[in-house]
Amino acid sequence: MTEKNILCIGAGYVGGPTMAMIAAKCPQCRVTVVDIDPERIAAWNSDNLPIYEPGLDELVRVSRGKNLFFSTDIERGIRENDLIFVSVNTPTKSFGLGAGLAADLQYWEKTARQILGFSKSAKIVIEKSTLPVKTALAMERILNSGDNAIRFDVLSNPEFLAEGSAVRDLENPDRVLIGSRETEEGLRARGILADIFAQWVPRERILTSNIWSSELSKLVANAFLAQRISSINAVSALCEKTEANVVEVARAVGMDSRIGSKFMNASIGFGGSCFKKDILNLVYLCRSYGLTEVADYWEMVIRINDYQQERFIQGMLGAMFNTLAGKKIALFGFAFKADTGDTRESPAIYIARRLIEERALVVVTDPQALKNARRDLSGNEGVSYVEDPYSAAAGCHALAVMTEWGIYQALDFQRIYDSMEKPAFIFDGRNILDHRACFEIGFNVYPLGKPPLTHF
Ligand code: UDX
Ligand code: ADP
Repeated sequence: MTEKNILCIGAGYVGGPTMAMIAAKCPQCRVTVVDIDPERIAAWNSDNLPIYEPGLDELVRVSRGKNLFFSTDIERGIRENDLIFVSVNTPTKSFGLGAGLAADLQYWEKTARQILGFSKSAKIVIEKSTLPVKTALAMERILNSGDNAIRFDVLSNPEFLAEGSAVRDLENPDRVLIGSRETEEGLRARGILADIFAQWVPRERILTSNIWSSELSKLVANAFLAQRISSINAVSALCEKTEANVVEVARAVGMDSRIGSKFMNASIGFGGSCFKKDILNLVYLCRSYGLTEVADYWEMVIRINDYQQERFIQGMLGAMFNTLAGKKIALFGFAFKADTGDTRESPAIYIARRLIEERALVVVTDPQALKNARRDLSGNEGVSYVEDPYSAAAGCHALAVMTEWGIYQALDFQRIYDSMEKPAFIFDGRNILDHRACFEIGFNVYPLGKPPLTHF
């Protein structure tokens, strides 16, 4: 492979780790990551990276300052690089047409215009952010609206990494997907990007497709994953009524090789920046094509997710004598999953807000996410933030597990029990604790989708 100058616009959860992996695997490439947020760039250039991701510090250290650079100079970045990844945020629109459903493309469009404005030579522009289908078409139209006769080829290369395992996923992806126009130039651009990934990904895992299939595949992959969680969460509600055990059901069902065992853990609901946003995007797309039944079908995945969170609160209320007012409740974990400090769309946000509404006093503990939790719950009174889980639980009436951090399984629950108000309750929203052991210590234990273990 010949030398390449690669730029990524957007130094977030996707752009940062992905470019660090490309730089590490392709020492002959020079990789620059730019962002409008100077604080973020300063953090990428420091020993305190802006995101927590296992293995990321080491990965960045390998290349930073050699062939990996973080900068705020977007204009220079665009001028000097031939391949431009676009990895800016595309949140759900909060205003106007499609509010609450469609993607807000303002950051993305601004970036397209910047690329057009600053380019002096041909570019391959690669959509990395998850975008509605046909966004590449809009990107092409903006890029080709200039009168400077510069050639722009637009590719779609959705990122499938999951947070908490980003480095592993990037190093050993199930597949890399590259969508392009099926023209001579489109296929050539696709080949250039495929050659970069082929430096470390086996060729048979580098899939190519037309550009619309690529854009849609990302939405559909996330919708399928989220659908599995809503399916098992719906079953957890039925298990609680029938004394079945959702973990046993998931194991029995998942051992069917046609179904598989992954993404079968009942929980307080899925969070993260992608699942809800992408399904809403899919729903909006279906509605805009008049596919009402298809839109309703996918929308139910989100409704079950909301229902699961509200069900959890109602379970707490019912167990704790129908009042939470004045009771102290420790939330164990605030991140949307373990091994990340990210709290975007974390079910813990909803649970905390509902507890505050019920006038409970909330104590939040999390090994990585306290800074984000403070921001998410800012303006709410009656919330405290405590790093040490033992101190967080002391004096509480209940603890509720929000995130499946491994450290919570290794805690001394006798010590925790001794420091709490009685009767002491555990609500395990992730089914990670040893429920029988906690019950034998004296806790009243409410797992998800399993019969509760109580002393009443
Ligand atoms: C997801 C996709 O997995 C990834 O491919 C895509 O690129 C981005 O979106 P991410 O959101 O980082 O990744 O994490 P993921 O591991 O998918 O978990 C999402 C949510 O589902 C978390 O809140 C997690 O706790 C929850 N979950 C996951 C369950 O509740 N049960 C499960 O069995 C699995
Ligand atoms: P993701 O999870 O998709 O990576 P993030 O929100 O973590 O999303 O990252 C997106 C990044 O894009 C943010 O750091 C944001 O500052 C940056 N960004 C948004 N708009 C622009 C822009 N016009 N130019 C450069 N960076 C941008």
